[in-house]
Amino acid sequence: EGGQRGGRRAEILLAPGDLKTLSLGAQWELFERFSFVQENVEPALLLLDVRARPELQILWTALEARALLVTAALDAAGEDVAQRLRTGGLSPAHFREQWEGLGFTEATGRASTAADDWLEGLLRISRITTGQDRPPFGQVNMASRAQRISDFLSVTSPGQSDTVYDLGCGNGKFAITVAASSAARVKGVEYGQTYVDSARRNGERFALPNLEFIHADVRDVDLSDGTAFYLYFPFWGEVAHAVARTLGDIARARDITVYASGPQLDYGEHFLEQVSQGALRLAPERLAFADVMVLRSAAFA
Ligand SMILES: C[S@@+](CC[C@H](N)C(=O)[O-])C[C@H]1O[C@@H](n2cnc3c(N)ncnc32)[C@H](O)[C@@H]1O
Repeated sequence: EGGQRGGRRAEILLAPGDLKTLSLGAQWELFERFSFVQENVEPALLLLDVRARPELQILWTALEARALLVTAALDAAGEDVAQRLRTGGLSPAHFREQWEGLGFTEATGRASTAADDWLEGLLRISRITTGQDRPPFGQVNMASRAQRISDFLSVTSPGQSDTVYDLGCGNGKFAITVAASSAARVKGVEYGQTYVDSARRNGERFALPNLEFIHADVRDVDLSDGTAFYLYFPFWGEVAHAVARTLGDIARARDITVYASGPQLDYGEHFLEQVSQGALRLAPERLAFADVMVLRSAAFA
């Protein structure tokens, strides 16, 4: 019965069709499905299955060949966008229009949206990074949703005179997207080496002059040139406390915005402490902060 189900799934993956006519996001969705199959087939068990049912070998060979074609199509579609970014053929405004225009509605049965598929297919990063790509200290990297990135851009409208920090930038979905979608300087801070490497590779691929990654513990970085700070529950406890205090100090000196995504789970309370100490104030458009907390310098109200 399991074999039958597997067979049906394979049929869907092998459905004929010109891969080049698929959008980058749709290619990414297929790519992820092939990766799932390939990562979950145990070679030793496959060998046993093939011995029992030789026709499975043909199916498996076809799947592998198809997976290579999907990868090639995705490479080509991604390279096309990368080249237009590198040469200035795709302006920040058009880049932003491109992914925002795809929409943030979740397809049924999928925890993803067309905008997320497009961005993740371009960057070739899964929304959740675990397994062997995960650094030894064990933190899973969850990339921001496209809708949140879009909300950040409309709340802060970052321009040429802004420096946006992504504190705990992971493999850079947020930082790269914001750098490619605006004229602001963007700095991603991350202490996971694997994540920084992956983020830098993408940054170089697009040759974005306004993007930089800093490999460090956020507590050791001088953040004083920042005008907008983005956090997506990157840390809590002591680290969150130290970062909130640093941002509180900066807020007393300059007009800044702090956009804290997912502030439940203890990390938001360290920012509320800065509110009660008079350094930050909650922005009126986000007084209910179940999902997002937006704070601004209190002194510059
Ligand atoms: C939930 S991910 C967010 C990824 C990214 N900001 C995005 O929205 O796409 C949080 C990241 O924070 C990083 N992180 C946690 N503590 C850190 C610290 N003290 N210094 C630098 N990075 C840290 C983790 O390694 C992880 O990659």
